[in-house]
Amino acid sequence: MARAPDIRGGSRWRLGGLELAILFTLGLAVLVGVREFAGGDDSGVGVDRREAAAANRPALGAAVDWDRLRGAGSYQRLFLAHYSSLTPENEMKMDALAPTPDGLDFREADELVAWAIDHEVAVHGHTLVWHRQLPGWLTERRWTRPALRAYLKRYITAVVGHFRGRVASWDVVNEPLTGGGAPRPSIWERVIGEDYVADSLRWAHGADPHAQLYVNEFDLERPGPKSAAMYRLLRELRRRQVPVDAIGLQAHLSPRWRPTGRELRTVMRRYADLGLRVDISEMDVAVGHERGALAEQARIYRTVAGACRRLAACERFTTWGFTDASTWLGSDRRPLPFSAGGAAKPAWHAIAGELLP
Ligand code: XIL
Repeated sequence: MARAPDIRGGSRWRLGGLELAILFTLGLAVLVGVREFAGGDDSGVGVDRREAAAANRPALGAAVDWDRLRGAGSYQRLFLAHYSSLTPENEMKMDALAPTPDGLDFREADELVAWAIDHEVAVHGHTLVWHRQLPGWLTERRWTRPALRAYLKRYITAVVGHFRGRVASWDVVNEPLTGGGAPRPSIWERVIGEDYVADSLRWAHGADPHAQLYVNEFDLERPGPKSAAMYRLLRELRRRQVPVDAIGLQAHLSPRWRPTGRELRTVMRRYADLGLRVDISEMDVAVGHERGALAEQARIYRTVAGACRRLAACERFTTWGFTDASTWLGSDRRPLPFSAGGAAKPAWHAIAGELLP
């Protein structure tokens, strides 16, 4: 996963004989890939997902619906044709992993991770600490600070430790801020206090010192109080030497909430200047059915994918799902790069144009 920050762009034009030979081989591989996909790939875009890594582009990821993915149908084929990384949509949330107070249930998540390893797909763990999708037994209980802190430490240590060596990156804290940039009220913030963020990162690091640790958040894509507050939070964490490696920009966008390329590059560069990796973690673009909606959607995807490509710190571009058949927003909003029938939309061509070689 680790990539030297200045490789992209910097070395592009300095090709020696060996590099040319490698490029020629890769070119052949692409051609073979294109031919193979011409028959079986329903998107109409024949590009091998591994080429992105070879060309030092950001990895392409998608959140997946595990029930659909495990059924070896067209959903799985479409995913494998284009993506090298997955984020489980629900299977690693606390309500899924901790259904009871005294034990963890890793069965579904283990099956998913085993499938990913078998298919050479990286798993991005999502998410250890969030204010939603918490088990009822946890939210209903009256907690003292030491008891909840001890539980959270035990939980993070057990989960990250369980997947050590198999899950290389984690959304440790999800959505810690309000729209105004204040600490978001949650059971964690209320009972433990704001420093649950730093504590959680430290515990995750303790359980797997090699894992890439993320804070993940929405509505950071434009300058404003929330992205400024996130900048201050991350700067402070870095100053205190709290182990945080990355910020995930969720990028749940629409024609009404969309950054310009300049706005997005401004915020991304500021986070990168803190020494952080800056990924796009959950992109989707909800649109209506008016004329031109899909072209407008493609422009928004192009802006974000282009900003990611231009910044070496942006190492992964993940959408929240990949086909309109399966999206938390409802198929009617058509937010993803492939249609419900699995055809490539203008949005996919925009992403591919920016991120595939
Ligand atoms: C969503 C899932 O996609 C849904 O299936 C679930 O019912 C609710 O959560 N931001 C996040 C994700 O960080 O975890 C959310 O996923 C979408 C918004």
